[in-house]
Amino acid sequence: MSLQAVSPLARRVFLVNLVAQIGIVITGGLVRLTDSGLGCDTWPRCNNTDWTPHDAVSHHAYIEFGNRMLTYVVGAIAVVCVVFAYRHRPRRKDVVVLAWIQIGTVVGQAVLGGITVLTDLHPMAVASHLLLSMLLIASAVVLYERAGEGDAPARLLVRPEIRWFGYGTLVVAAGLIVMGTVVTGSGPHSGDLKSKRFDVDIDQMAWLHADLAFVLLGAAVALALALRVTDAPLAAQRRVWWLLGVLVPQGLIGYIQYFNGLPEWQVLIHMFGATLTVVTATRVLFALRVREDAVGTPTGDAAHATSDREPVATSY
Ligand code: HEM
Repeated sequence: MSLQAVSPLARRVFLVNLVAQIGIVITGGLVRLTDSGLGCDTWPRCNNTDWTPHDAVSHHAYIEFGNRMLTYVVGAIAVVCVVFAYRHRPRRKDVVVLAWIQIGTVVGQAVLGGITVLTDLHPMAVASHLLLSMLLIASAVVLYERAGEGDAPARLLVRPEIRWFGYGTLVVAAGLIVMGTVVTGSGPHSGDLKSKRFDVDIDQMAWLHADLAFVLLGAAVALALALRVTDAPLAAQRRVWWLLGVLVPQGLIGYIQYFNGLPEWQVLIHMFGATLTVVTATRVLFALRVREDAVGTPTGDAAHATSDREPVATSY
């Protein structure tokens, strides 16, 4: 028997978790952009003698310490997610596993943050820290989406080729984001003024990164057209439009910050745009298929958007 979606309250908790994960990327960005990465110069203590920066002379220590404290907030939210996942009856194993993944990756992030400090903000550590956050955001989206639908086998709402194209789009988005961290790691805002940089040319990396942004934009336009001409459900079409609505301003901000010499506040907006890219690109996939609940009703946000098209029967 297939199981029901979780309660609206549990789903709201999962949404708060997603928002918190996006929030910590922004505060982490503030640490980097204010050159506060070594404000607390060791880990897990703030300095050799103290756990807190109580008599620190510079504001950098408070900024870095504040971001460390936020880890406890997102950690607590992840714990609440696990509690809500277990409260659901009958138990949904997929939801429980996804909720545990939130806790696991928050712990991983705390350790990686420590490694970032202990390696004096090596660009590889800084990049991995951001990339793990992006994975966390994607997994928070998956938790939110899966919890909102039943757990019957998925039925495709579009042609299988289109779904594969959707996966391809997500892979391009991942490559674009990885490349973005290489640009950052070779530029002025990598860690702090003294930290190591990747030994590559920032302009070449930025252009490669921008080329990938165009590939992603092209893929999203192609996906929108494919869904349109095959009369796919409106929910799926709308989600691709959301992705396009994020990509276009994000690309523009990318160019604006590049030609303006990377002002901190523009870089921060670009980081926010990157988190929204992950959210919108991941959500597209969930609207390309539908799952039913215990009473055989199609569930999930995608199922609520009207379409006169019957789902294509499929085994996955
Ligand atoms: C449209 C989709 C785009 C996405 C999703 C995206 C994403 C990203 C990400 C994730 C980073 C790394 C941020 C960090 O490490 O903290 C980044 C950095 C950067 N991106 Fe993009 N980007 C996009 C488009 C562009 C475009 C078109 C340009 C134009 C040249 C551009 C220029 C840059 C630059 C210069 C950086 C380095 C900023 C820094 O110093 O921290 N981006 N981008």
